[in-house]
Amino acid sequence: MLTTRFSTVFGLQSPIALAPMALTSGGALVAACAQAGTLGLLGGGYGDVAWVQKEHALALSLLSHSPGALSRFGCGFITWRLHEDASALDWLLDQPHTPAALMLSFGDPRRYAARIARRGIPLICQIQRIEQLPLCLEAGAAVIVAQGIEAGGHGMNSLDGRSTVSLVPEMADQLQQRSPSTLLLAAGGIADGRGLAAALALGADGALIGTRFWATKESLATEAAVKVALETSGDATARSPIFDILRRKNWPNEFNFRAIRNLLHQKWESHMPALMASPEAARHDYDAGVAANDFDRAHITVGEAVGLIHDYPAAAELITRIHQQATQLLSR
Ligand SMILES: Cc1cc2nc3c(=O)[nH]c(=O)nc-3n(C[C@H](O)[C@H](O)[C@H](O)COP(=O)(O)O)c2cc1C
Repeated sequence: MLTTRFSTVFGLQSPIALAPMALTSGGALVAACAQAGTLGLLGGGYGDVAWVQKEHALALSLLSHSPGALSRFGCGFITWRLHEDASALDWLLDQPHTPAALMLSFGDPRRYAARIARRGIPLICQIQRIEQLPLCLEAGAAVIVAQGIEAGGHGMNSLDGRSTVSLVPEMADQLQQRSPSTLLLAAGGIADGRGLAAALALGADGALIGTRFWATKESLATEAAVKVALETSGDATARSPIFDILRRKNWPNEFNFRAIRNLLHQKWESHMPALMASPEAARHDYDAGVAANDFDRAHITVGEAVGLIHDYPAAAELITRIHQQATQLLSR
């Protein structure tokens, strides 16, 4: 019932990809998702080589006796950051294990495309607007992820971002015209079988899911943060550059960050010029919040789908549940 072009091409039992969430999609979560028949993408994020090596080794060891699952183990990176330091990507491309896919988000992927293609690795490009599509097609992307503004973590800023429900079918139409063999995943706000069924109905070949997998047993999110998220409605997140400024992250202006809109975030919302001009005191406050595990000040990275999270399951249990619910809905 849930066989799609995406599940067929990548040998999946469900048309689902684990988002490559920085510092969250580690080896254990990637392995659990790959073993449960979905595409597991390691959160290579900003390209910390030591972190990638450690979590890559963990995933390999957990998957060493399951060749089928090993072939569903890939990785993702933040593209603009690779322009500054691509050593983690270089290291990965030198490893004997060929990743199932490499996903690049937030920047021009063309610089890396030829090397990825030479290893025979499918390239996945995550984008937020139709106008970003031509660069990805030029790079030879096998899969486009259309990311709506509902998504957790980084995405297009609020002025330029699009919602999943209109972006995905428009992207599907564009791909149909320009590159019909390129696959499409929907991302942003998908947390259960309703979301997966909707993604397929909108013309996607599957869904890339972040926030919902963030709250699973194998995720690297802390239990304390998940506990806060379980009490949080989808109304309570916001997209802004505030936490990037507080974390000293130098993101291009077009992208910003969705997280729980905590007290520290609210404090700075109407004082952005002051925060940008003189961020040091606010950064000190933020750092102290992180050290104290105080989530009124430390950020919790989730998207609007946080309001659909009511438990803290193992990833495999979650995947079964999403798959079964989507199957039931689509067979109605
Ligand atoms: C905790 C967290 C960390 C993320 N880190 C990354 C990242 O490093 N690279 C990336 O391409 N996307 C990252 N994302 C965004 C995901 O790729 C994806 O677009 C998003 O999770 C989909 O929306 P959802 O959170 O509603 O499922 C992150 C998302 C979350 C929730």
